[in-house]
This record gives sequence, structure tokens and C-alpha cells, in this order.
Amino acid sequence: MALSHKIILFFILTTAHLAKTERYDLRKNDEKTETFQKNLRKDPFTVGPSVGPVSSTRKPTYSNTPIQPPRYSYPSDLSFRFSDVGLQRIGRDFIKSDSIISLSLDNNNISDVSPFAFRSMQNLRHLNLSGNRIPKEKLLSLTGNNNLQTLIINNNNDTFDCNDNSNVKKILKESETFQSLEHLHLCNNQLRDIEMPFYIAMPILTHLHLGNNSISSSSAVFDNIPASLTHLNLDKNLIDHVEKDKLRYLKELVMNDNKITQVCFEECQENSISLRGAIRMESLFLSRNQISEVSPDAFNDMEHLLNLDLSGNKIADLAKDTFNNTVWIINLSLAHNILATIPNVCSMLNLKNLNLTANRINAIPSDTFCHLQRLEHLYLSNNMITTIETRAFNLQSLTYLDLSGNQLRQLPAQWIFPWQIQELHLERNYFTELDNLSLTNIKSLRNVYLDENPMPKLNAGSFQSLPGHTTLHLKNIRVNETQIKCVQDNDDDDADDDNNSGYSYN
Ligand SMILES: *[C@@H]1O[C@H](CO)[C@@H](O)[C@H](O)[C@H]1NC(C)=O
Ligand SMILES: *[C@@H]1O[C@H](CO)[C@@H](O)[C@H](O)[C@H]1NC(C)=O
Ligand SMILES: *[C@@H]1O[C@H](CO)[C@@H](O)[C@H](O)[C@H]1NC(C)=O
Ligand SMILES: *[C@@H]1O[C@H](CO)[C@@H](O)[C@H](O)[C@H]1NC(C)=O
Ligand SMILES: *[C@@H]1O[C@H](CO)[C@@H](O)[C@H](O)[C@H]1NC(C)=O
Ligand SMILES: *[C@@H]1O[C@H](CO)[C@@H](O)[C@H](O)[C@H]1NC(C)=O
Ligand SMILES: *[C@@H]1O[C@H](CO)[C@@H](O)[C@H](O)[C@H]1NC(C)=O
Ligand SMILES: *[C@@H]1O[C@H](CO)[C@@H](O)[C@H](O)[C@H]1NC(C)=O
Ligand SMILES: *[C@@H]1O[C@H](CO)[C@@H](O)[C@H](O)[C@H]1NC(C)=O
Ligand SMILES: *[C@@H]1O[C@H](CO)[C@@H](O)[C@H](O)[C@H]1NC(C)=O
Repeated sequence: MALSHKIILFFILTTAHLAKTERYDLRKNDEKTETFQKNLRKDPFTVGPSVGPVSSTRKPTYSNTPIQPPRYSYPSDLSFRFSDVGLQRIGRDFIKSDSIISLSLDNNNISDVSPFAFRSMQNLRHLNLSGNRIPKEKLLSLTGNNNLQTLIINNNNDTFDCNDNSNVKKILKESETFQSLEHLHLCNNQLRDIEMPFYIAMPILTHLHLGNNSISSSSAVFDNIPASLTHLNLDKNLIDHVEKDKLRYLKELVMNDNKITQVCFEECQENSISLRGAIRMESLFLSRNQISEVSPDAFNDMEHLLNLDLSGNKIADLAKDTFNNTVWIINLSLAHNILATIPNVCSMLNLKNLNLTANRINAIPSDTFCHLQRLEHLYLSNNMITTIETRAFNLQSLTYLDLSGNQLRQLPAQWIFPWQIQELHLERNYFTELDNLSLTNIKSLRNVYLDENPMPKLNAGSFQSLPGHTTLHLKNIRVNETQIKCVQDNDDDDADDDNNSGYSYN
């Protein structure tokens, strides 16, 4: 034990010495990645275990490096990064310094961390231990770090251990507290149903990241978070149930790639998420679950919702009043579902971006988007649209419309009003003539994309139906070569929309 201490100490002294001349950023690979480094100041610091024969105080000098005067001045602000240098164990009082505010020991081979490792860095605010091999039950065994604000332990892999610790439940003991911790990252750590009394140990935690684990019990998480928590990320877990009134304080919940099948309010099935009580929620991400049902009252409490992502599910329809309380939504995605009609979005007076890509919509009736005044981007590609009625896109702010990958042969005259549209995507449809697009009066139009439409009768006269300043993009199009004189570029490998990729018609 004493020997290994000395080895570690020697190593630390060496690395610390190197670090001070190398801008405190020591990594085996010479990648230019972001470092914690802020300002360097000539503060003394101590390295080494407090108990032990050798302990050393050094005053580093910075003759080579010009020091910028700090713009904002903390009493001390040193940042260390010992990345990918093969550290294996971090002993007690690893470094002694009140000047270090940020320490990264990422991508080493650390399998043992003393609970007292960082207690002699009283001002440590950011600690990154990602990419190590710390046993799960010791992940949060740290004491005496009262100023720690951010703790990052992602990609920890302790499976080299032969003991089956893959189902460790307790990773946080009651005695361990992080009074100042606001951000905790524990992604990609093979965590299962862990008991973590966050609300006791981390009373002011605001952001908790638990993505890429194997958590299946939502109560283990939702029953243990403090009321201060506003952002919770549970991406890629195995959660199939969230009970009523668990989302009271959250502003953002990211739960893509889980196992929810129903979104509900009060009457909920087994595998569901209840949104009752989610009165502060601004962003909800439930992409790629297996949601097939959304109760009409599901969003009744979500008056503050700004972002909703329900893409990649199996939603076939939405009741008329589903969104009648969510008037502030700015981004709505229902892409990659099986909707046959456009849902009622009339109440979303602030909607800017609507993504309905890859559904089974076959018609756009007049006024279906209710003249929404702020709607700017509308994505309807990869549906089965055959019919667009005259007043379908009666949207005064619409600048971007994607209708690619549908079954359109023609568009009605005067079909876009009041003509703010700039980008129009009509690739992969069945248009045969430019006349059938009715683009003549759309003065705002800058780019029209018509790649992969059958256009056998394209000729110079066809372009008269285009408004000025419009670039027509035609790639991989089946044209009748004998009638075309101005075709320049028709090859497959020119994928960019540069000025040669189509016709420029002014
Ligand atoms: C923490 O370390 C990981 C792994 O090297 C790195 O990807 C990440 O950017 C670091 N986080 C911060 C905040 O520096
Ligand atoms: C990591 O540490 C373990 C034991 O702690 C050792 O067996 C293994 O060889 C080390 N791996 C590397 C890449 O240093
Ligand atoms: C964890 O480490 C073990 C042993 O080195 C390796 O076989 C396994 O693939 C690693 N797991 C992950 C998720 O990186
Ligand atoms: C989750 O895992 C995937 C694949 O293993 C990886 O690409 C992704 O970056 C991980 N995400 C996080 C947040 O660790
Ligand atoms: C929204 O619809 C629900 C169910 O139809 C109804 O109970 C509620 O009063 C409606 N809210 C508004 C603001 O219209
Ligand atoms: C809406 O989505 C856009 C694009 O993804 C994003 O930049 C914007 O921040 C989102 N709006 C809100 C309110 O989150
Ligand atoms: C629409 O949603 C799909 C599926 O989630 C996504 O791949 C695509 O990037 C989204 N489009 C926009 C413009 O956000
Ligand atoms: C396209 O336009 C031509 C001439 O303007 C018209 O004869 C033809 O019927 C139209 N095709 C379709 C599918 O509407
Ligand atoms: C292409 O043009 C030639 C000559 O005008 C004509 O004979 C031929 O039928 C056209 N082919 C198609 C598919 O329109
Ligand atoms: C395309 O043409 C415009 C206007 O002539 C010019 O400003 C732009 O730089 C050109 N883009 C490319 C990729 O050549």
C-alpha cells in the first residue's frame, strides 16, 4: 500500500510539474479539445497525500507563457486536466490546493477513488471523472466537497470486475452530501434500478443526466429527485411508466428511446406517462417510444409547453381538443408516426416549426392550419399527399415548405397566399410540367427543388411560369433531352445546391 502510494505520488508530482509548464492540460493524444482552463494565477499549491513522507509545496513560474490579465477575477481559478495518462487510483488528498476550481481526470483507468480524494481542494467546482472504471457502489462516494457544482462521471465501465455488480442498487449513501451540486452527469454507466436519495444528498440539484443506462423503474428516479430539479434526461433507458404528479417541478424532460406506450392524464394504462401536474414543463421529448395513444386530456396541465417531440411513435390520430391548452408551443414534431390526417393545431398560436414528416397524410384541406400567424417552417415530406386545396397554406409567415416525397401531380392555382414562401421542396413527386406547379405569382420564392420528378416536356417556354429571382433545382430528372437546350447539369454525384446544379432564371 505504501509503495503504491509513493508510485502514485511520484506520478502526480511528475504530471503536476509537466502540467504547470503545459498549460495544465495533459493528454496523451495531442487533440485540440476544449479544456477547463480559464486564468492562471501565481498561487501556491500542494500536491501529494497529506499523510506520507513526502509532501511538497511549489511555487510554479510561468516565464514562457504570457498571462492575460483576468477579465473577471476569482480569488483563485486553476484548471487541471489529466486526461488519458493511465491513472489507476486516486488516493486521499490527491491534490492540495484551494486554487483549483476545475479538475478533469477523464479517460484514465481509475478503478479506485478515495472518498477523501478531493477534500483538500476546497474550491473545486467542476470535477470530470468520465471514462474510468470506478465500481458502481463507489461512484458517488466522495466527502467534503462542499463547493462542487458540476460532477461528470459518464462512460464509466466497471464490468472488468468479475463480481456481478451490474445490479448495484445503492450508489449513494445518506452520509454523502453535495451541498452545492447543481449538475450531475451519470450517462452510459450500465446503471439499473438504483436507489439514489438525490433529494437528501443534493438539495439544490437542477440538472440530472442519466441517459444510456438500463433504468426501468421510474419511481427509483422520480421519487428521489429534489424539488430544485428542473432538467432531467433519461434518454435510452427502459422506463415504461411515469405516475401522476411526478413532473411537478420539471421544466425539461428528455425521455426519448424508452418504453412508454400511452400519454395520459388521469386514466392511465400500465405502460404510460401521466402528464398531470406538469404545470412548469416547457420541453418534453418522448421520441422513439412505442406510443400509440394520446388521451385527449393528456396536455391539460401543460400551459407552459414550448417544445413537444412525439416523433418516431405509432400515433394514428389525435383528438380534436388535445392541444387546446398548449397555446405557447413553438416546436411540435409528430414526424414518423402513422397519422392519416393533419391534427388540429388551431390553438397553437405561437407555433413556428411543425414537423409532420413521414406519416400517412394524403390530403391538405383548405384552412387546415388555421391561418397560424407565426408558422414559418412546415415539413410534410414522405407522406402520401395527392391533393392540396387552394387555401391549404394560408399562412402569412410561412417561408419554408417541404412537400417532397409525396404523390403530387399538380398544385391548384393561387395555392400559396400571401406568398412569403422562399424555399419550396417538391422533390420526388409526379410533376410532369412546370405549369402544373402554379408558381407564377409567388414573388418571394428563391428556390424550388424538383429533383426526381418526371418532366418529359420541359422546354425553354416552361420557365415563363416561374417568378423572377427563383432558382430551379433539377437533379436526377427524367427530361426529354431533345427538347432541352439549356440543361447543363444532370448528374447524380453533384449533391450540393451550388449555382451549377440547376437553372437560374431571372
Ligand atoms: C468530461 O470528460 C469527457 C470524456 O473525456 C469529455 O468528453 C467531456 O467533454 C468532459 N466534460 C467537460 C465539461 O469538460
Ligand atoms: C487498468 O487497470 C487494471 C487493474 O486495475 C489492469 O488490469 C489493466 O491492465 C489496466 N488497463 C490499462 C489499459 O492500463
Ligand atoms: C467494458 O470493459 C470491458 C472489459 O474491458 C469490455 O469488454 C466492454 O466492452 C466494455 N463495455 C463498454 C460498454 O465499453
Ligand atoms: C449513448 O450510447 C450511444 C451508443 O452506445 C452513443 O453513441 C451515445 O453518444 C451515448 N450517449 C450518451 C449521452 O452517452
Ligand atoms: C380543452 O379540452 C378539454 C377536453 O375537451 C376541456 O375539458 C377543456 O375545458 C378545454 N380547454 C379549453 C381551454 O378549451
Ligand atoms: C425550436 O427548435 C429550434 C430548432 O430545432 C431551436 O433552435 C429552438 O431553440 C426551439 N425553440 C425552443 C423554444 O426551444
Ligand atoms: C423532423 O423529424 C424527423 C424525425 O424525428 C427528423 O429526422 C427531422 O430532422 C425533423 N426535421 C426538422 C427540420 O427538424
Ligand atoms: C398540367 O398542365 C397542362 C397544361 O397546362 C394540362 O394540360 C395538364 O392537364 C396538367 N396536368 C395535370 C396532371 O394537371
Ligand atoms: C421527346 O421529344 C421528341 C422530339 O420533340 C419527341 O418525338 C418525343 O416524343 C419526346 N418524348 C417524350 C417522352 O416526350
Ligand atoms: C451563387 O450565385 C450567387 C449570386 O450570383 C453568389 O452570390 C453565390 O456566391 C453563388 N454561390 C456559389 C456556390 O457559387
